[in-house]
Amino acid sequence: MKFFITGGSGLLGQRIATVADNNDEVILAHNSNCMDNSVKCDITDKSQVADVIGGSDCDVIIHAAAMTNVDLCEDEVDMAYDINANATGYIAQTAEDIGAKVIYVSTDFVFDGEVGNYTEDDSVNPLGIYAKSKYEGEVMLQKYSSNWAIARVSVLYGWHERNNFTTWLIDELRNHNSVNIVTDQINSPTYADNAAEAMFAIAKSDVNGIFHTAGNDLISRYDFALKVASEFDLDESLINPITSDKFIQKAPRPRDSSLNVSKIEDVLDFKMETCSESLRRMADCENL
Ligand SMILES: NC(=O)c1ccc[n+]([C@@H]2O[C@H](COP(=O)([O-])OP(=O)(O)OC[C@H]3O[C@@H](n4cnc5c(N)ncnc54)[C@H](OP(=O)(O)O)[C@@H]3O)[C@@H](O)[C@H]2O)c1
Repeated sequence: MKFFITGGSGLLGQRIATVADNNDEVILAHNSNCMDNSVKCDITDKSQVADVIGGSDCDVIIHAAAMTNVDLCEDEVDMAYDINANATGYIAQTAEDIGAKVIYVSTDFVFDGEVGNYTEDDSVNPLGIYAKSKYEGEVMLQKYSSNWAIARVSVLYGWHERNNFTTWLIDELRNHNSVNIVTDQINSPTYADNAAEAMFAIAKSDVNGIFHTAGNDLISRYDFALKVASEFDLDESLINPITSDKFIQKAPRPRDSSLNVSKIEDVLDFKMETCSESLRRMADCENL
């Protein structure tokens, strides 16, 4: 099969390229950070989307590009909606023109976090601009595409040239720096490799609909940090528990946006890993 990956220079896009089957063809697209063999496609430019993605003759688009800086989205509202929502509409329309399936990567932040352990059937209530614009992307996808899936992930991590929470934490602890980590934000940290594998499973099946492709835990950021320290053999005493009220962030964060992953396990017999399983894989990968 032929895959077109938006956000090919990002964490998830890069891991999608790494875990792809050798028999598949993968076209990676970037915007400002050109990678080896990636093609330029600014997804906010409707004609570029039509030319580059429309001309690619792909079977499946995995749409992982987004404005992911949650706090910056509060300041740059129009840009957040252009990238996260309107561009998803352009991609869905182009996919429909060429008969491709679209998998849109969305977020646990579509939920308000009052309950936790959310299933795909639960009602959304996005809190900030990032969350609202990503949810609007979900709406655009369903408006324009007849062959779609939404893959929601949560706190992505994995090896990538730009730091994510996990790689940042590993760096800090290796440098013997102490860190303050919140105890009152709960989610389902998602190993990008495992999420990428789940997306290929969705792509290769004939299923449509929403899937939670997240880590198989409901865990606070602090407890997750302790697991990272333990798996990478680092000093847990450098991790200080704090509460969110001591850690001012511009955008609102859901208190517990953890995702229930039973559906993908039942429907596709695909296993979402716990963070202990994924962190072990990540550590093994570093030691190769
Ligand atoms: N990171 C998380 O914790 C998290 C949590 C929940 C959901 N998600 C979702 O998961 C997906 C992947 O996230 P990630 O962390 O892998 O992203 P990332 O590393 O922050 O990378 C973002 C990607 O989007 C691309 N992009 C931004 N603006 C673009 C534009 N105008 N045109 C084309 N491409 C553009 C970037 O391209 P350039 O770098 O080339 O400009 C980059 O490849 C996103 O949809 C995000 O909303 C992420």
